[in-house]
Amino acid sequence: MEKSLYERLGGYNSIAAAVDDFLGRQFADKQVGRFYVGHSTNSKKRLRQLITEIICEVTGGPAKYIGRDMRTSHAGLGITGSDWQVTVKNLTAVLDKFTVPQKEKDELLAIVAGLRPVIVEI
Ligand code: HEM
Repeated sequence: MEKSLYERLGGYNSIAAAVDDFLGRQFADKQVGRFYVGHSTNSKKRLRQLITEIICEVTGGPAKYIGRDMRTSHAGLGITGSDWQVTVKNLTAVLDKFTVPQKEKDELLAIVAGLRPVIVEI
């Protein structure tokens, strides 16, 4: 049987490190950085933890995501299709930096793409 995507990505620590790098890019980004302005360091760490957990869960890992659902937590932010493109670009850059193989990259990007309809509002 094929290993879970979670295992093929290297498990919890690898995913946590990738999420850390991804959020660093999001916070510093000239377009999407505005969404995170005014959040305390602790709120940013909380967000990093929750994103790590949701990625672990949806890729077949043992972690349980206990945050809010994706529609509720993004509703009212006014995230646009262009913001989404920038975010996917940042995520792809992280996967490339961590030399995630094409197959695993495609699988993860497909899972994330499935969230677009509930996150993008405009
Ligand atoms: C354009 C893309 C995105 C932007 C700008 C964005 C921005 C944000 C912001 C600002 C928050 C905090 C909302 C608040 O607490 O009021 C948030 C929460 C969250 N986002 Fe995103 N997000 C994006 C895409 C994603 C994606 C693709 C995922 C899934 C991997 C994700 C997972 C989460 C999680 C888990 C939370 C925390 C929910 C909670 O607090 O219970 N986001 N996002």
